[in-house]
Amino acid sequence: MSVVRRVLSVVGARPNFMKLAPLARALAGRAGVQHSIVHTGQHYDPEMSESFFRDLGIPAPDENLGVGSASHAQQTAAIMQRIEPVLLARRPDLLLVYGDVNSTVAAALVAAKLGIAVGHVEAGLRSRDWSMPEEINRVVTDRLADLLFTPSRDADENLRAEGVPAERIHFVGNIMIDSLVRALPAARALDAPSRHEVASGPYVLVTLHRPSNVDDPAALSGLLQALAALSERAPVIFPVHPRTRARIGDLGASPRANGRLQLIDPIPYLEMLSLTARAALVVTDSGGLQEETSFLGIPCLTVRPNTERPITCTHGTNRLVEPRGEVVLAAAREALDLGKGGGKREPIALWDGNTAERIALAIESYFARQNTHRV
Ligand code: UD1
Repeated sequence: MSVVRRVLSVVGARPNFMKLAPLARALAGRAGVQHSIVHTGQHYDPEMSESFFRDLGIPAPDENLGVGSASHAQQTAAIMQRIEPVLLARRPDLLLVYGDVNSTVAAALVAAKLGIAVGHVEAGLRSRDWSMPEEINRVVTDRLADLLFTPSRDADENLRAEGVPAERIHFVGNIMIDSLVRALPAARALDAPSRHEVASGPYVLVTLHRPSNVDDPAALSGLLQALAALSERAPVIFPVHPRTRARIGDLGASPRANGRLQLIDPIPYLEMLSLTARAALVVTDSGGLQEETSFLGIPCLTVRPNTERPITCTHGTNRLVEPRGEVVLAAAREALDLGKGGGKREPIALWDGNTAERIALAIESYFARQNTHRV
């Protein structure tokens, strides 16, 4: 008699959704698995959440916990309180969490205490920067996880060094790239550079939202001045995260509007990919963009002192720059002078669009092992 196993994915914030989409698709096609989705509501603006479900073809969540924004403790606690009854009612055989946001660690902690197995997609990344909330979330989630799905070999090494048993670690590749590969033709067809009137020449795409860059008014205003100066050289398009928008509002004076520095609202996945794929340069503090630009061969400057994704620097197109306006400006001008160049790169191992399939297979064999043990 075949048993149907229940798998429950918990997501909450924008960078979770492109990691969920390919796995939801891969699990939907499996007879022995019933997959459901819970959205914590950590991100709730339509352009931070709904538009991603639409662009990525993710089924509507089975439940939304509606937690919204709050301090780290309050947000994490609210997710824990609201997810516990959901897990008790649904009793999944496996809980899947994604990336490194507060929703990830909160759901993993509740499941582990209920004795529910936890799978972590994008396990093992380490910035070794304990001042980043995401680093705390990564380390704690990995400690709680039974199945650790890693995007790169350095992540395996990090986990082994922390004493995670080898049989829990599954090197599956980068699931973000599954979403990218699938969406790229539609993104190119969208031709967002023309819509944003930057198609006629090289342009720079910017995102900044890390607390370390945007919460300090002096740092933020230095970065905005650098972008205004850079826009004299090439148009700069900057979709602004709500957190950054609020901090820019607090500064009072908005950056010089010369028509070549466009501060726009957050944009959907396909539109962002369309802009990324044709950019001359990306300036960012996002984790996902470091990976997407590496895959696409687009030069990227990451405005951070460290990265949990070192493979994007050693095998990709990424370079870390000190988060100071004048340093960012000089590095961006230099990158534009150099142009794309760089020659052909070796593809990064298992960043090939098939990661979700490998995770689904690993989940199936995990369930099969459990069946054997029960006999
Ligand atoms: C979170 C993640 C971060 C990820 C980022 C991507 C954590 C600890 N951080 O940071 O790793 O890179 O998402 O976006 O989980 N807000 C809105 N509308 C929304 C969501 C947020 O206006 O839909 C505003 C609120 O003012 C909120 C602020 O953005 O207080 C920050 O949101 P929050 O979810 O706490 O963290 P992010 O900065 O988005």
